[in-house]
Amino acid sequence: MEFHCPIDGKALSANEATLRCPDGHSFDRAKEGYYNLLLVQQKASLDPGDNKEMVEARRRFLAAGYFAPIAEKLAEFSQRLTAGMRSPRILDAGCGEGYYLGRVQAAIPGADLAGIDISKWAVKAAAKSHKKIAWAVASSKQLPFAKNSQDLILCLFGFPFWESFRSALADGGHLLLVDPAPEHLWELRELIYDKVNSTDLSKIDGAFAAGFSVVGEETLTFSITLESNGAIQDLLAMTPHGYRITAEARERLGGVQRLTTRVSVAFRLLRRG
Ligand SMILES: C[S@@+](CC[C@H](N)C(=O)[O-])C[C@H]1O[C@@H](n2cnc3c(N)ncnc32)[C@H](O)[C@@H]1O
Ligand SMILES: [Zn+2]
Repeated sequence: MEFHCPIDGKALSANEATLRCPDGHSFDRAKEGYYNLLLVQQKASLDPGDNKEMVEARRRFLAAGYFAPIAEKLAEFSQRLTAGMRSPRILDAGCGEGYYLGRVQAAIPGADLAGIDISKWAVKAAAKSHKKIAWAVASSKQLPFAKNSQDLILCLFGFPFWESFRSALADGGHLLLVDPAPEHLWELRELIYDKVNSTDLSKIDGAFAAGFSVVGEETLTFSITLESNGAIQDLLAMTPHGYRITAEARERLGGVQRLTTRVSVAFRLLRRG
């Protein structure tokens, strides 16, 4: 997939280990194979996005296969949406360490795939494990791609930027959102909070304002059993509960060695009008 210059939006071409735009802006390839296209002024902090520990926790947890049904459903959706296209262009915006896009690659070998994330730790891990996908450190707020260049954008447990997604999608292109459904990780939350409330699905009013319409919605629910405290801690580190948990609840959770919990996620399919 072709990246575009984050400074002026012009196409970047590869010359050995460097990407250059016609105006001379250049970006070196990191040894793991990804590019850093995040400009200093796009960084709200020195180390934006998920930090190294969060990335490591998620990598271990996902590699253990606990969320494999989510990856399966994602692959099915992606296949269905791009059926008949010779080389569908698929972007994972906020790709983390590439677990889900790797599954999409296996399901659609001819696809032209790219993943971006604002966390260099996530992108580094992604580039190490999937060599044939184009990876870059970049923000979903300002995607380093041409306008109308994507057939499908994936946004899992992430941060959607509607205008930016709309602009990067081709006419009639799709955006697939995967977000926690109201009962996601219910039993984990019971261990953390005195009272667990069913949480609202994230609002997508901004998507309608940007000209998207919802063309499909499905909830996937299944149970997982975590067999060690390490796995429980890894799952906690992947969720916002990792920030919210009190010291007391953290201590309580430290003694739990086995947990069966519901996983419930909503797949919302949007179409660019
Ligand atoms: C909860 S994680 C989900 C990662 C991955 N999609 C998954 O489901 O395994 C959210 C990700 O969004 C990234 N992120 C946060 N702000 C971002 C932005 N503005 N642009 C791109 N990625 C961003 C974080 O670094 C993190 O990797
Ligand atoms: Zn440039």
